[in-house]
Amino acid sequence: MAVLGVTAALLVWVATLLLLSLCRQAHRRWKLPPGPFPLPFFGNIFQLELSDIPKSFTKLAERFGPVFTVHLGSRPVVVLHGYQAVREALLQHKNDFAGRGEYVLFREHKHRGVTFNNGPSWKDTRQFSLSILRDYGMGKQGNEARIQREIPFLMEALRKTQGQPFDPTFLLGRAPCNVIADILFGRRFDYEDGTSLRLQRMFNENAYLVSTPWAQVYNFFESYLCYLPGSHRKVLRNVSELKAYAWDRVQEHRESLDPSCPRDFIDCLLMEMEKRQYSEEPGHSLDNIAAAVADLFFAGTETTSMTLRYGLLILLKHPEVEEKLHKEIDRVIGPSRVPAVKDRLEMPYMDAVVHEIQRFINLLPSSLFHEATRDTVFRGYVIPKGTVVVPTLDSLLFDSQEFPDPEKFKPEHFLDENGKFKYSDYFKAFSTGKRVCVGEGLARMELFLFFTAILQHFSLKSLVAPEDIDLSPIVNGFVSVPPHYTLCVLPRSQV
Ligand code: HEM
Repeated sequence: MAVLGVTAALLVWVATLLLLSLCRQAHRRWKLPPGPFPLPFFGNIFQLELSDIPKSFTKLAERFGPVFTVHLGSRPVVVLHGYQAVREALLQHKNDFAGRGEYVLFREHKHRGVTFNNGPSWKDTRQFSLSILRDYGMGKQGNEARIQREIPFLMEALRKTQGQPFDPTFLLGRAPCNVIADILFGRRFDYEDGTSLRLQRMFNENAYLVSTPWAQVYNFFESYLCYLPGSHRKVLRNVSELKAYAWDRVQEHRESLDPSCPRDFIDCLLMEMEKRQYSEEPGHSLDNIAAAVADLFFAGTETTSMTLRYGLLILLKHPEVEEKLHKEIDRVIGPSRVPAVKDRLEMPYMDAVVHEIQRFINLLPSSLFHEATRDTVFRGYVIPKGTVVVPTLDSLLFDSQEFPDPEKFKPEHFLDENGKFKYSDYFKAFSTGKRVCVGEGLARMELFLFFTAILQHFSLKSLVAPEDIDLSPIVNGFVSVPPHYTLCVLPRSQV
């Protein structure tokens, strides 16, 4: 009898807890945008395809409209889908949604640096970084010259492959890695250098691992999963190692700093911080500088490297596009002059191809998570401070009105009927608003100059027939990671 009594009491207790949890959720949800009903604890995790969350968001948008809520674990996440909603949130509510949603795997950078910084120091660090990068040549001639200096090294490394198949991953990545290393700490690495290879492996590994389904689950159930073994430990180790590398560069610079002659980004940031007196405050600490350097190094290498790699694979599948590019390069630049940014004005086809590559590969389909900085009324809903907000950039890049047949690679998406370059405001591969990519100018310049130089000197050759080339990313979470492939390049003079 007593046992029955206790069991009944326990059942009532569990039922009450469940009811309370449901009531709490219902209360929180009532002013949030609509969305699928969440289970306690798990949220909507079972309604999402973890191997392709961006695709699940698109499906949910068809059901719930352009602004909807999903619960990842017990946390509500507001998803913005389509041009109007994304623009409205990131431009008209630019301060309200300028926070950075938490990435637990990058917690070491929380409140530090730029990318994952969601604290008071973000604004200052971003502004300093941008102004230093701008004065130091970002988007101006300084960077053009830097990229042009790197081109002969890249060409030489490609020539050395002697028409044999090779894995393009790290060879192509050397070029953007050297450009950003030169900006940040005045250093370029030899193409055989082991440190640069080690760093690139870490960047590459992290971009892949943080895009796997495990990482998506880990991000929202970290408190339960952190003790388990798994790939999250590798990501955390890589993040720490990269930060330690950046720390060493900052210390070296501090010891040899000559304020009358700043050499690079780190020197300028050190001087800026000195003016404000170093302190233990995250925004004014050496640790903040190290985090900013690590952020820019990772973001500045891996994104451009993946775009180059993915872009060449696309051209292998579309030899007719490569052919047209060769013709345009021969007409505008010829066989030997180093490509320059001004050539872009006369090369609408290359310009369109680079845009189409970026649109098609959809590198960061859900951008990076934003966060509401205050309680915000958006389209009649109330989005509480601290809610993660996801601007789905893929919904703009794959808009079928703006880009007919969006699933197809068609440079014509960016060309008018006269073959002139056609701007599209839906091209938001670098996002928009307060958190827009810090390296947009540099990345655009690098992509144009590196693609042009490669095709000026080489023809691409695939080991498989174009129709057998699969362009689907190997994982599609945080980043759309390009598939592995083997490339052959033949000097054009021999073709
Ligand atoms: C093809 C190349 C690139 C693409 C597609 C790209 C795209 C993006 C996107 C979508 C974001 C998120 C913006 C948001 O939160 O709304 C971002 C942020 C960022 N990117 Fe890039 N990026 C590229 C290259 C670069 C380069 C070369 C650098 C460094 C020089 C860089 C540095 C950053 C930084 C620091 C942030 C964080 C900004 C912040 O949180 O305030 N990116 N990028």
